[in-house]
Amino acid sequence: MTNRCMVIVGSQWGDEGKGKIVDVLAEEVDIVARYQGGANAGHTVHVGTEEFILHQIPSGILHSGRRCLLGNGVVVDPFQLFEEMSELIARGIDAEPRVGVSSRAHLLLPYHKLLDRAAELGRGEKKIGTTGRGIGPAYEDKVARQGIRVGDLRSETRAQALLRAGAERANLRLASIGSELRVDVDGLIGEVMDIRPRLLGLMVDTGQVIDEALVAGQRVLLEGAQGALLDVDHGTYPYVTSSNTTAGGAALGVGVGPTRVDAVVGVVKAYTTRVGEGPLPTELASPLQEQVRELGGEYGATTGRPRRCGWFDAVVVRFARRVNGLTGLAVTKLDVLDTLPEIRIATGYQVSGEAEEITNFPADLEQLAEAVPVYETMPGWQTSTQDARRWEDLPEAARAYLRRIEELTGTPIWYVSVGTRRDQIIPVGR
Ligand code: GDP
Ligand code: IMO
Ligand code: MG
Repeated sequence: MTNRCMVIVGSQWGDEGKGKIVDVLAEEVDIVARYQGGANAGHTVHVGTEEFILHQIPSGILHSGRRCLLGNGVVVDPFQLFEEMSELIARGIDAEPRVGVSSRAHLLLPYHKLLDRAAELGRGEKKIGTTGRGIGPAYEDKVARQGIRVGDLRSETRAQALLRAGAERANLRLASIGSELRVDVDGLIGEVMDIRPRLLGLMVDTGQVIDEALVAGQRVLLEGAQGALLDVDHGTYPYVTSSNTTAGGAALGVGVGPTRVDAVVGVVKAYTTRVGEGPLPTELASPLQEQVRELGGEYGATTGRPRRCGWFDAVVVRFARRVNGLTGLAVTKLDVLDTLPEIRIATGYQVSGEAEEITNFPADLEQLAEAVPVYETMPGWQTSTQDARRWEDLPEAARAYLRRIEELTGTPIWYVSVGTRRDQIIPVGR
């Protein structure tokens, strides 16, 4: 790895294996920072026989000495953060001195979760299938300029006034949408006051820390959560999350300028998954759907929900390349395809009203709903790739599949992951 400031970004619908890739790359960096999202993320990292699922703390935390930051673009659930931290500490990781939280990051409070739940119920059939972690309502408050920032906790009286106003507003909103859920205003203020000193102890200016580190020649990873197709601007709106997951959000979400970023790695699975509602053009039919889900262990790291599975969609990843400015790909879970006799790749979509096959990912959800993928079929390799450590170790058919992915997406592959373990990674031509 020669780049100084690299963004690691999900380039499908999330759960691409960003945690694993960040953990592997963190070996060579000084700082890992999250730039958006919150505890909706579930980033799984395997170290030896142990499994860690990180929701808010960056995936660099499992390497000693790495500074792990939550940038201003993250919505920070402080209760969940301390729960996650305590779990890490109990497992022997010295997390607390290494975690920093931006003073500009917005707080995600229990009432945001109540609002998230109530909004989902209110949507009925049209539910988004959120993670229930309060993400949408927390970003709504931020953009409506009525959120509470970590730095607002500096003054106890100001914090109490803001918390009271926020909780009362939430209660009014809950009542207005016919929900019986309510937040206990005084209870909430008390709980936040209890954790206030601990949270203030973590407060930093993430932009300044990162900028100074880069000037000093250190290396930084900016860790994305979710994926390009869940981006509030570029994803399958409204079936998206409420932040800019794409690389443009990275510099913004930690507080440095975009010229600081010198590489963007798009993490993609060797196939496609999605959890929650919304279009997934290459979704598999039964029983292959269930077969791939079992082979890949495709159950949500945050909610445990079964993930929907589909073939690799080159239309999606080509689109992700454009909106992220990807410089390289990390293809994960190649090993999951090891036993399949044949493998398909979507190269375009057929949509009504268009004579030609389209190769640009459509913005229109109705068009997307009727899109019929056009597939190319390639032979499977039907041999284990889990022990491959170099490009040459991969079976010929697996190499052909990966090369085709490069061609169709117009992006070189930099890493191939063939298992959950740290050593199950193949650096390609770098
Ligand atoms: P993230 O949200 O992008 O970090 O991904 P998740 O952790 O939600 O989901 C990815 C899952 O795939 C996790 O259970 C990882 O342990 C697992 N995983 C990552 N890379 C590989 C791989 O190359 N092969 C296999 N079999 N599993 C992998
Ligand atoms: P990581 O970082 C996969 C999905 C939810 C839902 C939509 C909106 O582990 O890849 P939200 O709670 O954000 O309002 O939900 O986004 N979603 C994810 N899907 N991986 C994630 O994170 C996700 N975070 C949110 O399932 O469809
Ligand atoms: Mg995940």
